[in-house]
Amino acid sequence: MFKHVDYYAGDPILSLVETFKQDERPNKVNLGIGVYYTDEGKLPLLDCVKTVEDEIAAAHTPRAYLPMEGLAGYRKACQNLLFGENSEAVAAGRVATIQTLGGSGALKVGADFLRKYFPKAKVYVSDPTWGNHIGIFEGAGFEVCAYPYYSKNHGGVRFEKMTEFLKGLPEHDIVLLHPCCHNPTGVDLSPAQWDEVLDIIKNRKLIAFMDIAYQGLGDGLEQDAYAIRRAEEIGLSFFVSNSFSKNLSLYGERVGGLSAVCPDKEQAELVYGQLKFTVRRIYSSPPSHGGNVVDKVMNTPELYKQWTQEVESMRQRIALMRTQLVAVLNEKVPGRDFSYFTKQRGMFSFTGLNPEQVDRLRNEFAVYLVKSGRMCVAGLNSKNIDYIANAFAEVLR
Ligand code: LMR
Repeated sequence: MFKHVDYYAGDPILSLVETFKQDERPNKVNLGIGVYYTDEGKLPLLDCVKTVEDEIAAAHTPRAYLPMEGLAGYRKACQNLLFGENSEAVAAGRVATIQTLGGSGALKVGADFLRKYFPKAKVYVSDPTWGNHIGIFEGAGFEVCAYPYYSKNHGGVRFEKMTEFLKGLPEHDIVLLHPCCHNPTGVDLSPAQWDEVLDIIKNRKLIAFMDIAYQGLGDGLEQDAYAIRRAEEIGLSFFVSNSFSKNLSLYGERVGGLSAVCPDKEQAELVYGQLKFTVRRIYSSPPSHGGNVVDKVMNTPELYKQWTQEVESMRQRIALMRTQLVAVLNEKVPGRDFSYFTKQRGMFSFTGLNPEQVDRLRNEFAVYLVKSGRMCVAGLNSKNIDYIANAFAEVLR
């Protein structure tokens, strides 16, 4: 019956987690998947989350279905975080927001919606991008192409090439953008570059789809939303997918959101209806536990404040690891420029290591990176940083 079923070779990021689990070497370090670990190398349960979970457990509430669009307080929290508390678009009812199954669920719902209403559009992703961006949009039936982004030569953005390329796209093509903490490179646009890119998107009537999975871990919660707020300010209609996986350390709860900023309230209502319809046809409604946790943390002033402090300390620890890594590498591999590690932002760094060097790191040192050379900086800590820098030095020799 199933002989013709294609073999699945696994996912470049998720399958690496499985290989890592099976590795019995005591000094193993997982710098593959984008997960934040503490300086003790542990996955944190944030204090604000613990408080809410204690309350939820004590209340022993029955588990009703959530509505297709998710919890109202959750949706409001997404809007506040993304667009700011004084957003004109939100106040005018021009933003349709739904709770989704993580950022991936938001991408899928957004992709299915766009495929239905813009069937001729092509989707453009940065070269490179998170691999599943391509998978999700191709899965929705789109042709996915790349726009120039990262320069291997200078480790920055090929900005002129990128803008020239975008200027050549036809109306209503979809452009996937990373507002902060670019995955996989860690190389972000500056505010001035965002202004230019967003003006092109507006002039060319392109559809921006902004995927923000690391808000708060780049330059700060507000700063990381610059591109989104600017897009609203210049009157764009666009999509935003967001995730609380990393900044609330709620990976397994699948807590994300999808927002569509529309020209007016009437259109926002139409889009909102179709987003609900899309959800109904994929998974019906989102899960309640993670949704309740996010809702309570974000909408209880003391817990929200505590959360912002917890995110800030994660952000600062990542930045510290970047500085320390450069210091140790400068010592161990003199004459080589590692300053790119501190210029990059967020959880990831494109290390510049090639696939053979990545294989050597895994085989000889039990240090796991994604084949592309992407490293999750949040897996470094004060205890393993010397070991990792040594391993880097060995494979770079
Ligand atoms: C990553 O890029 O490592 C994360 O977004 C996790 C994932 O699902 O790939």
